[in-house]
This record gives sequence, structure tokens and C-alpha cells, in this order.
Amino acid sequence: MRRTILAAGASGKRSGYSSRMSGAAPSAATVAPARALRGRLRVPGDKSISHRYAILAALADGVSTVAGYADGADCRATVRCLRALGVTVHAAPETGRAGAAGRTLTIHGLGLGALTPPSGELDAGNSGTTMRLLAGVAAGHAFRTVITGDGSLRRRPMRRVIEPLERMGATLDADDGRPPLAIRGGRLTGIEYAPPVASAQVKTAVLLAGLHAAGTTRVVEALPTRDHTERALAGFGAAVRQDAEGIAVTGGARLRPVDLAVPGDPSSAAFFAAAAAALPGSEVVIESVGLNPTRTAYLDVLRRAGAEVETRMTGNAGGEPIGTLCVRHHRRRPVAIAPAEVPGLIDELPVLGAVAALGGGIDVRGAAELRHKESDRIARFADGLRRFGARVEERPDGFSVDGSGRLAGGRVDAAGDHRLAMAFAVAALGAEGPSVIAGADSVDVSYPGFFAALDALRGD
Ligand code: S3P
Repeated sequence: MRRTILAAGASGKRSGYSSRMSGAAPSAATVAPARALRGRLRVPGDKSISHRYAILAALADGVSTVAGYADGADCRATVRCLRALGVTVHAAPETGRAGAAGRTLTIHGLGLGALTPPSGELDAGNSGTTMRLLAGVAAGHAFRTVITGDGSLRRRPMRRVIEPLERMGATLDADDGRPPLAIRGGRLTGIEYAPPVASAQVKTAVLLAGLHAAGTTRVVEALPTRDHTERALAGFGAAVRQDAEGIAVTGGARLRPVDLAVPGDPSSAAFFAAAAAALPGSEVVIESVGLNPTRTAYLDVLRRAGAEVETRMTGNAGGEPIGTLCVRHHRRRPVAIAPAEVPGLIDELPVLGAVAALGGGIDVRGAAELRHKESDRIARFADGLRRFGARVEERPDGFSVDGSGRLAGGRVDAAGDHRLAMAFAVAALGAEGPSVIAGADSVDVSYPGFFAALDALRGD
């Protein structure tokens, strides 16, 4: 039975999910409570890995293919920008990945430093990853590139990439550190860089610029962040070295084209894993999902919170471990997240917070970065969960959620933020009454089929 009703905000018309498959996504979802989630699924291709494979393939000498490329708006934005930079990309829909939207891309790489000047501004949409990673690439090209985005992206901080890329020799302009971001690239020189914020996007922007730079570029991280760039660079044949000091790339080495497959996105799997952990009687199995240890900290948190979590490695694609994940509800215990854990959990904190309101509770510290995501994820999360009836304390660098009460459900606003929309939907499953999530169409950013996948697992 369909228990999630998606409604077009403008017309107020209500429709079942199937009627919107080919049309524009609606803006509000009504989510009914669920007794349990049970079943198997695959989630869309990893968003972070998809961006990186597309960009590196564009810089390689020849034709690469990328299977399972994430079908959400963010990864489409990267393809759109690469096309505007002269790269030919063909996208074919996939049929083989039940439940997971994906596309196989054929990317005709132009070679290092050989992108062509765009005729207008590049539109990164909602995607911070697109903007920051392409800033690193544009820094290595001797022309002017301007990258802009939607209202949310134009509020996000870019000084974190401006500063290192200028040190390497590019010239960047922004509006008080916010997009649009104008990059005039040129001759770059390798640097040693210790990012002041833990950010895989910053690390990657610097390393991508480093591919085009004279000498060696090294990034030294205080806390480790996701390492997909390092793994992908090795696969494309870059001169990359990981040592105790950090990750170093030597500029000028040609990249070879490769055929790659993108694992399922653990950050998308996290919504179902967290829901299964929270709802009594639940058991969810997720196949072909990425198990890269820099992305699986959320599974440790779910275990600490009492859930039964099993993983089984089934393979390795492009240097990325892939496997099957099974999560079962058990008891719920309170958990505390320490600052050092935050970079490994940054995208999963909203859903971990949401399920903590259904039992157990959570205390998150050292997560001020959440205020600089697609929305202020501390303020908007706290506001939404309170509207559901939870007791939430908001702090500058985190939040705590009381897990001893019950959620009534209610009307919340996802603030156009895909991860908040999905986190609120998961909390709504455990509420006493139905909930309405405004801005639910934002799930298209990373997971266009999210609500249908959720409905398919309902055990009631
Ligand atoms: C990403 C890194 C993270 C994450 C984002 C994707 C990436 O951002 O929140 O969703 O693909 O590198 P930061 O590295 O800026 O924390």
C-alpha cells in the first residue's frame, strides 16, 4: 500500500508516487507512520564517487565509461558543467539495478589541461561538490570560468577553496567569499596544504589543481575525510602517493581512461539503515552498497545505539569496497558523537539525530560544519524535530535530542535540503500520526526514487 502521498505545492493537487514518475517532483510529502521496515533494496550510485569519476574521466586521454552514475540533480550538474567545458558525455539509462536509478556515462576525455573555455556561467545547481571540485580543475586552465548555483549554494562558503588555489597561482573572485565564483586559471605550482576545516571537497579541489601544477601538491589533514579522490586518482594512473604525512600528487602525469562502476551510496543507505534500527521488528538488507571505511562510521553509531548491524564484503570496484549491509532493530541506547568522529559522519548526522528522537537520544559535538551545508542543518533540523514533538537542544556546534519521549508527527519544512527531507521522513515513520514534509522534492538532489523505495519496505 502506498503510505506516502506526494503533493504538488503550487496546485495543491495530491498524487500517488507513480503518477509523478515522469513529471516534475512535487513539493510536499505526507508520510504515514510505519510499524516496521522489512525487505531488500539497492540505493543509487554514490554521489561523491560519481562526481569524481566524471571529472577525472574528463581529464583523461580517451574514452571512459562510468556505470551506476548517480542520477540525482547534483551529479547531473557536474555532467552539465563538464559539457559546457567542451567534454562530450553520453548518458544511457540503466535497467540492471532494481530500485536504484543510475546511468552509464560514456565520457570522452580531453586530456589534462585541455578543457575549452565555456561560453557562459557554469550552473552547479545545489551542488557544493560540483562547485568546489570544478574550481580546482578550472584553476589549472588558462581561461576564466565562472561557477554559480541556486540560492542555497550561493550562500555557501568558498574561501576554503579560494585560499589554497590562489596560493597555487590561480586568481579567484567571489562575493564576500560566496558564489558566483570566478576562476582565472594559469600556471600552478604545487603546495603543501593543511585545510583549516576537515573537508574532502577542499582536499579534492587542491589535489585536482595539483594534477595541473608544477611539482608536488600535498594535503595534510588533521582529521581524515572521505578518501574517494585518492582511490580514484590511483585508478586513473595519476602520480599519487599516500604516506604518513598525507596525500601527495605530482603534476603533469597523463591520466588513462578507465571503465568503472559506482557502488551504492552509503549516505543514501543510511536512511534505511537508521529507520530499520529505530522501528521494532525491522530488518533491511541493502545490496551493492559502498563500504569504504571513511564512510561507514554511521554503522558504528547505529551499533553503539543498540542495533544489530552486519556487513559482508562482496567485491571491490575501482578500489572501492562494496558489499551487503543488514540492519535489524534491537534495543535503543543513548549515543554521544565526539568531534573527531564528525568528518566521517557529516552527511549522516541529520538522520542519526532523527532516529535518536524515536528512542535512545543523541548528543553531537564539534559539528559546526553542519551550519554550512545545503541549509543550516543544525537550526533547520532542530526546528523540524521540535515540530514533530521532540525535545532538541541546539548549540553552535551541535545538538542533543532527548530519546525518552514519543513523536506526535506534524508539519515540517525541509528547507530545500535533501538530507533533511529524508531524515524527517524517517522520523515520521515512527511518529504517532501522519506528517507533512514541505520541500520534499529536494530528495531529487541525491535520491530521486527515495519515497517509492521507502514505501516498498513498509511492513504494514
Ligand atoms: C563531499 C564531502 C562532504 C559532504 C558532501 C560531499 C564530497 O563535504 O558533506 O555531501 O563529495 O567530497 P565537505 O567535504 O565539505 O565536508
